[in-house]
Amino acid sequence: MENKVLHYSVMSQEVMEYLSPAAMMNNSLMIDCTLGEGGHSELFLKNFSDLRLVGLDCDSEIIKRAEQRLVPYRDRVTILNTWFDEFFAEPERYGNVSQPSCILLDLGISMFHYEASGRGFSFNKDEPLDMRLSSEEGITAEFAVNTYGKDQLADVIYQYGEERYSRRISAAICKRRSSKAIQTSADLADIIKGAVPKDYRHGRIHPATRTFQALRIEVNDELGRIERSLDKAVEMLQPGGRIAVISFHSLEDRRVKQTFKKLSKGCICPPEVIRCECGGVPTLKLLHKKPLRPTDSETKNNPASRSAKLRCAEKVSKFNN
Ligand SMILES: C[S@@+](CC[C@H](N)C(=O)[O-])C[C@H]1O[C@@H](n2cnc3c(N)ncnc32)[C@H](O)[C@@H]1O
Repeated sequence: MENKVLHYSVMSQEVMEYLSPAAMMNNSLMIDCTLGEGGHSELFLKNFSDLRLVGLDCDSEIIKRAEQRLVPYRDRVTILNTWFDEFFAEPERYGNVSQPSCILLDLGISMFHYEASGRGFSFNKDEPLDMRLSSEEGITAEFAVNTYGKDQLADVIYQYGEERYSRRISAAICKRRSSKAIQTSADLADIIKGAVPKDYRHGRIHPATRTFQALRIEVNDELGRIERSLDKAVEMLQPGGRIAVISFHSLEDRRVKQTFKKLSKGCICPPEVIRCECGGVPTLKLLHKKPLRPTDSETKNNPASRSAKLRCAEKVSKFNN
C-alpha cells in the first residue's frame, strides 16, 4: 500500500533557485543529508535528469517512505541509513560519494515524526516518550526525564529549549517522578502545563513546545551533529559547488551562520593583528547576507514553515581569491 506523504518540503523554490547552478554542473552529485520522505530530493531528480543523488537519514522508518517515493529515479539514487555527522566523518566508507556539487541540510524532524511515528514527539498525542530519531540507539526522552538530576534537566530545558520556566518545569517533573515514572508525551505535557504560570499556559505557543524541543535535541544530540558536520561538508564540496541549510530555531541557525561566516572570511588572526599572519583563505562565498525566509503564501499553506531560515553558500576555487 502506498504511504501518504505527510511532510511539505520547506522553501523548495528557494532551495531550487540557489542550488540549481551547482546541480547543472557536469557529472553532478547531490547529497541530501536529511532525506526525510524525499520531497526535496524528488524535486531535484525530476528537474535535473543527469543528477545523481545520495540521500541520508538516521531514521530507518522514514527511509522506507522515501524509497517508495523515489522508485522512478532509482537508477540515480543511493539511500543510506546513517547520521549525517557519521557520514561526513568517514565518507570513503560509503562508496563513490566524493566531490558532490550540491549539499542540502533541512534540519530537525519531519511531519511524519509528529503525526505517525508513535514516538512521543508531539505534546498533543499520548504516546511512549521516546523521541529518538534512530530507534535502534541512544537514550530515550523517558530515560532523561526520569533519571537526570533536577539541575541537569533544568539546564537541558533552558539551553536547548530557551525556556524561561526551565527550573519550575524541572522541579515539577522531579516531584511527579518521585511517586510515578513519567512514561508518555501526554503525562509530560500535563506536568509542564501545571508547572508554568496561567498566562503562559494560554500564550502564543503551547507551554510544552520548548521543553519538548529541548528533550528532542538532547536525546538525538542534534546540535553536536550539526557542529561536527558543516566544516566537513564544505570541505567535501567541489569548487563551484553549493550548500544550502534550512534551520528551524535560533540554536541551529547560529551554528550555520557562524560556520559560514568563518569559512567565508578565511583569516582567523585576532582583530589586533594588522596584516594577516595565518594565511587563511576564504573557502565559501555567501550567496546572501541575511537568511532567506519563507514567503507569506508558504507560511499560510504550511504553518510549520514559519520559523524556517535558509542560508546558501558557494565553495570558492583556490584560484578565485
Ligand atoms: C525536515 S525533515 C526533511 C524533509 C525532507 N527535506 C523533505 O523534503 O521531505 C528532516 C529529516 O532529517 C532526519 N535527520 C535529522 N537529523 C539528522 C542527522 N543528524 N542525520 C541524518 N538524518 C537526520 C530526520 O530523521 C528527518 O527525516
